[in-house]
Amino acid sequence: MIRFITDTEEKKKISRQILEALTEWFEVEESREAFIRESVDQPFWAAFSDDVPVGFLCLKETGPETVELAVMGVLKDHHREGWGRRLFAAAKDHAAREGYSFIQVKTVRSGMYEDYDKTNEFYKSLGFKELEVIETVWDEANPCQIYVMGLKSAVETIAVRHSYRGRFSEEPVPEEDLKTIASSGIAAPSGCNKQTTDIIVVNDPDVLGKIKASIDPPVAQTAPAMIVVLSRKINAYRDRCFAIQDYSAAIENMLLAIVELGYQSCWYEGHITDEDRICDKIASILNVPEGYDVVCVLPVGKALDDFHAPSKKSFSERVKFNSFT
Ligand SMILES: Cc1cc2nc3c(=O)[nH]c(=O)nc-3n(C[C@H](O)[C@H](O)[C@H](O)COP(=O)(O)O)c2cc1C
Repeated sequence: MIRFITDTEEKKKISRQILEALTEWFEVEESREAFIRESVDQPFWAAFSDDVPVGFLCLKETGPETVELAVMGVLKDHHREGWGRRLFAAAKDHAAREGYSFIQVKTVRSGMYEDYDKTNEFYKSLGFKELEVIETVWDEANPCQIYVMGLKSAVETIAVRHSYRGRFSEEPVPEEDLKTIASSGIAAPSGCNKQTTDIIVVNDPDVLGKIKASIDPPVAQTAPAMIVVLSRKINAYRDRCFAIQDYSAAIENMLLAIVELGYQSCWYEGHITDEDRICDKIASILNVPEGYDVVCVLPVGKALDDFHAPSKKSFSERVKFNSFT
């Protein structure tokens, strides 16, 4: 089990326990103590096997766009059990959600020591790419290999997007970001290019307040902005109307843009289009003309609460190659 640790004493205890057992990598007391000290202020994940800590990982911000895998260790008896990979997956998810573009990690370059060769192979297997070797970071006997990984490919963003229903920070969403999100929505494909989806961006606190008051039971009450999705039932050809597919593609594009920019959201459609027709109240607040349906609202803001991916069926249950059986 991987847990996000916030208690400073627990962080110190776990990091000391693990690093002191990994003398091949952390033999210099001074630097080991520095790792333990610094871990207290860093995002910190620990791996537990039968409630006993067997590994941990810390992240450190090294610039507005980049975070570093500052330190990571898994007890030797628990190598090859997947703990390192799971720790890294949790940290990478967190870094991507926080809006960082890159994650870097430093180690002694391959070809120097057998234990570090394994470390290099491990980082490469996680998807890290060799950026540069700098001889002067540590010393001549320990040339520093810097690895980097982009966190903002479409595939990465898809992997870290989950519905967020927690509290948002009060921090306003800059208009540029809201424009980027809306532009991503209208860039989506649409049947016969009929472009049946329109968008209203809501960031005026008064208007936002009225919309929030109309949503009962309440959701997204702390969101500093909302995207309201409108749809028109226009036939693409003959009697074929693809309006639902059109707005679904637009919504998914916007959800991905929202996550890539470091915000969170949730596709609220069922909630607002149910029998109580909250969508019609929202349409009236926003002066939406006849012929346009409000089909969905997407809150936009920075997440305050932690959240997890819901469980989904396995790949093989849902994906087949060449035949269903
Ligand atoms: C058409 C549609 C309608 C949805 N309506 C709601 C909703 O009204 N309220 C809500 O909390 N989530 C809603 N969701 C979000 C789903 O519950 C969520 O996508 C699903 O549980 C999978 O979780 P994930 O988005 O984290 O992968 C909706 C999703 C879709 C695609």
